[in-house]
Amino acid sequence: MKTKIHNIINLVAIITTTISIVNTSQVFAAAPKKDTGVQFVLADTDLLRAVGIPILVENKKIKVGVARVNKAQELLLSKKNHALGRCGGFESLGNEGFINMSSQKINTTLLVEELNKLENTVSRFESTQLTAQKLSIETEPNIQAAVNAVDQSEVEKWIRYLTAFGGRFHATSDPNIHVRDLKSKLQLMLAESGIHFSIRSVSHTATAQQSLVVTLIGKSRPKEIIVLGGHLDSINQTFFDNKNNAPGADDNASGSGSLLEALRVIVKNGQPARTIEFMWYAAEEVGLFGSKEIAAEYKNAGKEVIAVMQLDMTLQPGEGEMVVNSISDFTHPWLRQLFKELNSKYIGVQVIETACGYACSDHASWYRQGYPTFFPTESSLNKMNKNIHTRNDVVSPASSFRHAAHFSKAAVAFAMYMGHSDIRVP
Ligand code: BES
Ligand code: ZN
Repeated sequence: MKTKIHNIINLVAIITTTISIVNTSQVFAAAPKKDTGVQFVLADTDLLRAVGIPILVENKKIKVGVARVNKAQELLLSKKNHALGRCGGFESLGNEGFINMSSQKINTTLLVEELNKLENTVSRFESTQLTAQKLSIETEPNIQAAVNAVDQSEVEKWIRYLTAFGGRFHATSDPNIHVRDLKSKLQLMLAESGIHFSIRSVSHTATAQQSLVVTLIGKSRPKEIIVLGGHLDSINQTFFDNKNNAPGADDNASGSGSLLEALRVIVKNGQPARTIEFMWYAAEEVGLFGSKEIAAEYKNAGKEVIAVMQLDMTLQPGEGEMVVNSISDFTHPWLRQLFKELNSKYIGVQVIETACGYACSDHASWYRQGYPTFFPTESSLNKMNKNIHTRNDVVSPASSFRHAAHFSKAAVAFAMYMGHSDIRVP
């Protein structure tokens, strides 16, 4: 039954795409007055060609192009990318900003600028490859003790707690039930710790859902900020199913839960020298909405973000319980190297490095603003959990809380190392 529906959806998508190849003028048509679901997207040029979507402009160096797609084409991109072992496969640029209002033509200069911006960020970060290889860290007993204090059963408790909401979709009549509840739990926990902290719900313009941010104020370098984050929202993308029927155990109660346990351990280690911020982002699943606004706001305010760690999907090992995938795109090579070294000193899993292939999570929002990021996740995309974005993303025999706890350890080691020192990305 499921296959039949999928076949029909595929067919509709293929027909729509074929039409758009034959009738390319559709791509250059005037912007629709109301939202018809047409939008500009950034995507891998190989992927766009593979599904026959016309590329408006492309950058050959980074192999990324811009296309204007409808909902069916979006679905097609997603499906093809899933078949290639990836997830969504494109990044939304919206529709409005790229149409010249007087001529109603697409402003290709602006699109080329988007691609140039992307190329600049990528090459700026890639030029630090050599420096990355020189990094070498000392073992610090207090970091080892903190890493050892991570408790797998606490991670399990948080993941079960978030999953039990049944859905954390960003566009329900009350999309902040879980945000309020978590906030009050954290207020109690942090008040007991005696640490100097603040907690705030962040409102957004693109969604009614709020992000939650905990700040541990730095003792001696308060303006230097270390960010650790993961998205708290979830989504059900099955056709005809309720979008909020989305327990999202792996995607992303797990990353959120790994981060919550890291917070518990970190506050036990006293006030950090630098400011450390823990962020549970809103509405990632519909286009990185929460993190996009926060990262842009930090950039506009001139905030000095030293490093950003992303936690998204930590529960289901694909390559084995002792293997962690460090995402190799939209991340900084020096931080990926630091992660490997922190791992071999304090954690001891095997680290592999593979790409998402597109801006697949909130780290990309920070990366786009020029901030260095890293993003360890449960497995390579080839072996990823196939139940995400469905009602079946629940705690199951395939889940491993031990695996999820590795990510709390990584977060603790990273926050302690960067938060109690003056080291920065070269
Ligand atoms: N958790 C996924 C991304 C992901 C998938 C990370 C596999 C690591 C391995 C995330 O929640 C997601 O679904 N992202 C969207 C893209 C976003 C821009 C809407 C996706 O991949 O479809
Ligand atoms: Zn997702």
